Amino acid sequence: MSSTHTEPAPAKLNLFLHVTGKRDDGYHLLDSLVCFADCGDVITATARDDAELTLSITGPMAGVLATGNIEDNLILRAARLLRAEANVTQGADLTLEKNLPVASGIGGGSADAAAALRVLCRVWQLDIPTTELEKLALKLGADVPVCLHGKTVLMQGIGEKLIDLPELPNLSLVLVNPGKAVSTPEIFAARDAGFTEENLWDRTARFNSGASLAAALQDCRNDLTLPASGILPEICDVLNALAREDGCLLARMSGSGATCFAIYDTENQAERAAHAIAESQPDWWVQATGIQTTEDRARAQIGAS
Ligand code: C5P
Repeated sequence: MSSTHTEPAPAKLNLFLHVTGKRDDGYHLLDSLVCFADCGDVITATARDDAELTLSITGPMAGVLATGNIEDNLILRAARLLRAEANVTQGADLTLEKNLPVASGIGGGSADAAAALRVLCRVWQLDIPTTELEKLALKLGADVPVCLHGKTVLMQGIGEKLIDLPELPNLSLVLVNPGKAVSTPEIFAARDAGFTEENLWDRTARFNSGASLAAALQDCRNDLTLPASGILPEICDVLNALAREDGCLLARMSGSGATCFAIYDTENQAERAAHAIAESQPDWWVQATGIQTTEDRARAQIGAS
């Protein structure tokens, strides 16, 4: 059996994100509809005979990550934690193909850490129950359990309560980041207004089109948009650029920003919007995509060597 394996680390999207409270330790309680886009980073790992753990970073967004302190990267922290908890003596060579902008509200580092846990379980042939792996994931960050889960869920608590939902229709999406990183703790700290009630999202609702889902999402919000756009006003420019393109059904920020997404009525409209925005704002990261369906996930598993 090959000791090299690959795992996708798809972009996470908060279709809505309501902040419902704050814990004594400063973490915020959330109520958020999370799904995964059909684009993202890719993690590859090869087992080593010795105990060393290495990470190399490639890809269009490798930039600061590749030149920064690699030992602090969440992927290596995930690898060290898993190795200690599972008493593994082997090491691994890991590669991150970084396609998503960093610190951008679409999971990035959390998705990479979750994919690292998954790929290392395969490389080291560990059979750890999902609940145990999710506990490890939470030690790495509040968004890591949902990225490990990798399916459409209602996410509550600080990110540890994951409630499965019916599959969403495929969406014609455009993701846009203005090319500036934002600090998640800073955005949460700026969210000092009153907290909103838990959303009454119908957990059994099935949507037969992107348009019907977008209509239901109109009643929801991302409560971090105001604090984030106060710190980075370009977020408003991104939302306006997405909203003024033909066929836009909904434009919203994901996570703590600065990446925003829009749902378009058709795939053609999404592609045209992505093209127009990329032409007028060459410094922005622009990606037309869809969401991951069960079949996409199955294909990714089969395709992973
Ligand atoms: O858990 P993670 O390290 O990803 O979180 C980074 C920071 O974001 C936390 O230290 C906290 O300030 C803020 N945060 C929060 N509530 C959450 C998630 C993150 O306040 N649910």
